Amino acid sequence: MSMSPEWHPAIAVSELSPDGVHPAIVGQHKLIVLRADGQAVAYRDACPHEGFPMSKNAERQDFVLVCNKHLWEFEAATGEYISRTPRPECNLKRYPTREVNGMVEVDISAVPLT
Ligand code: FES
Repeated sequence: MSMSPEWHPAIAVSELSPDGVHPAIVGQHKLIVLRADGQAVAYRDACPHEGFPMSKNAERQDFVLVCNKHLWEFEAATGEYISRTPRPECNLKRYPTREVNGMVEVDISAVPLT
């Protein structure tokens, strides 16, 4: 089944601070939006470990996003769980992003709600 993209504005580009972890809500999707490598990136606002909201528990340390609940670490630019061996099931769920008219838009079709 092919899903067509569903782009929706999430947050103003101007609201993104260099080290911020910004919560945003698009429909029923709870997200965090951050800047990494000059790009806006968006992830589901849930830690892959036990689901705690990253917007309340995460801390940005340069290129790394740390969940403060149990200190899992993710690459800020990709959402990849930082580990000696790849563990894709532990990566943050990433939404495609684009910038349109000063807004960060996300494609919510890319990350199913359940
Ligand atoms: S809930 Fe994030 S590390 Fe455990």
